[in-house]
Amino acid sequence: MSELKEKPKLGDYNRHLLICTGARCTENGEAQALFEQMGEKFKAAGIDKGALRVKRTRTQCFATCTSGPLVCIQPDGIWYYNVTPENLQRIIDEHLVAGKPVEELIYHRATQINGA
Ligand code: FES
Repeated sequence: MSELKEKPKLGDYNRHLLICTGARCTENGEAQALFEQMGEKFKAAGIDKGALRVKRTRTQCFATCTSGPLVCIQPDGIWYYNVTPENLQRIIDEHLVAGKPVEELIYHRATQINGA
């Protein structure tokens, strides 16, 4: 019988934003720079805590290495491309705060398999 490990802790959040900082979709560090700006932008939008809190995480590759920075919003299953600082602000204001995805920046939507 294996020893029980301590269960990791994770604070409550409403959505999870994943951003690829891999070198193939953003060659010049744009995605990393964007990630570093997110803390302040989330705070200004009021989504750093409370009911709309967004957790952010860097990933290495989504295997869709074109036209980054690339961002995925879960559990919505929405994937954005060309996330410039201006487009990130739109995603924050329109999607993460107001709940309306920014249609022209979406390159993929997850298939809804549970009738949700
Ligand atoms: S390196 Fe970003 S999707 Fe592959």
